[in-house]
Amino acid sequence: MRIPERGRPAAEVMTLLDAAGARDLPWREGRTFAYVYEGGRDVEEVAKAAYMRFLTENALDPTVYPSLLKFETEIIAMAAAHLRGGPEVVGNFTSGGTESCLLAVKAARDFARRERGIAEPHMVLPVTAHAAFQKAAHYFDMAMTLVPVDPKTFKADPAAMAAAIRPETILLVASACQYAHGVVDPVPEIGALAERHGLLLHVDACIGGFILPYFRRLGAAVTDFDFAVPGVTSISMDFHKYAYAPKGASVVLYRSKALRRHQIFTAATWTGYSVINPTIQSTKSGGPLAATWALLHYLGDEGYLRFAERTLAATRAIVAAIRANPHVRLLGTPESSLIAFAANGFSVFPIVDIMRQKGWFVQPQLGYMGSEANIHLSIDQSTVDLLPQFLPDLAEAIEAARASNAAHLPPQTAAMLASLVPETFTPETYRQLMAMAGTGAGLPEGTAPINLMLNAMRPEVAGLVMTEFFNDLYVQPREDVEPREALRAEAAE
Ligand SMILES: Cc1ncc(COP(=O)(O)O)c(C=O)c1O
Repeated sequence: MRIPERGRPAAEVMTLLDAAGARDLPWREGRTFAYVYEGGRDVEEVAKAAYMRFLTENALDPTVYPSLLKFETEIIAMAAAHLRGGPEVVGNFTSGGTESCLLAVKAARDFARRERGIAEPHMVLPVTAHAAFQKAAHYFDMAMTLVPVDPKTFKADPAAMAAAIRPETILLVASACQYAHGVVDPVPEIGALAERHGLLLHVDACIGGFILPYFRRLGAAVTDFDFAVPGVTSISMDFHKYAYAPKGASVVLYRSKALRRHQIFTAATWTGYSVINPTIQSTKSGGPLAATWALLHYLGDEGYLRFAERTLAATRAIVAAIRANPHVRLLGTPESSLIAFAANGFSVFPIVDIMRQKGWFVQPQLGYMGSEANIHLSIDQSTVDLLPQFLPDLAEAIEAARASNAAHLPPQTAAMLASLVPETFTPETYRQLMAMAGTGAGLPEGTAPINLMLNAMRPEVAGLVMTEFFNDLYVQPREDVEPREALRAEAAE
């Protein structure tokens, strides 16, 4: 494919864009239970207008864009107050939860090296901590220990974390809440553990940090997790989740500048401009900052409280429906707006495809270390209006999945999959597995057969399969067919 020889009128390009998006997951009207948080048309319009107003400004250099410095420092101040931090709390605006978690780990690593003389620092993670921390270990070459959680509550186990501490340990991680099951780790106990051992404690509140203080104000029982807890040294919190900001909006906060210093990368050792990067990105649009700041002012505390009330009501209704259904079971007791449920005696995965046919997106999660295969729902303020359609559809999907034979792997297939080991896995193994799953190149139609297979493998092998899948997916398109088809369809109308 080459760069198109001639340009086209803007309207034609827009048609191409619309055609490209025609098969995307529809997210308006609250029908997706992951990926998108929907604040409604007015919120979308304010965010988009603010984003476009500052789209072109470059947050690389806050000295020439004081507007962006103002937005960032004010967003950080509001986030710090929301998480009960004092005026000494500092932080930065990042592109998302993953970047915030990566930066917290990088700051901890460099703090350990410079201030503690630990050359190869180590961190302790409950297995429910977001995979972003494993990514940080991978990218920054940090040692880590994954620790099992309480098998009933899915909360981090402070005793198991204590047992994993070693002389090079610098960082403990807790979640508020963790993504998979929506429960908050016992942060006060883990904070005390961190203080006893002189360790840093990062609380990953990427998904729960914004909404949980509102749930607390609405009378829900929420474990303490923020800067009010002694021992907590840094917190990540996303605005592009329950603050309904466009993607690319998160913050990482530190109890003091002494730790944040180690987050910042600078370089005067090259021939170009002085590089001062508090975050991973260097050149970056001012759009996400402006949109987040605008929404905080547009919705205000009372607007967010109203959204949280709607979200809590929807969550409670769905939790009640799942508890009342004898064929499924909640994993843990959700404390936030995220829930996970497993199936009693049948595979949960077909529910995803059946729900998709009914126009809903729910998210499959593979089993790992005591958490069996399940379905995850991130519930937002838009869900509450849809409960009369969603709850019967979910009940029907559960019933249909129960009756479905598609959800069983023949025992010899399951045994073969379980026997695969990373050492002998090759791209050819991957191709054979995909042929078995009935999947050719490109995006699969149904997800259940693949998830069933992935779930039967060792997680390390499943990881290799997923690598091959994306390595095949992101390749040059063979022909420039789609845009032409779209234009032909447009001309025919
Ligand atoms: C607890 C938690 N941490 C980190 C992340 C990663 O955030 P992002 O997808 O914005 O990079 C998520 C995402 O859902 C999360 O729930």
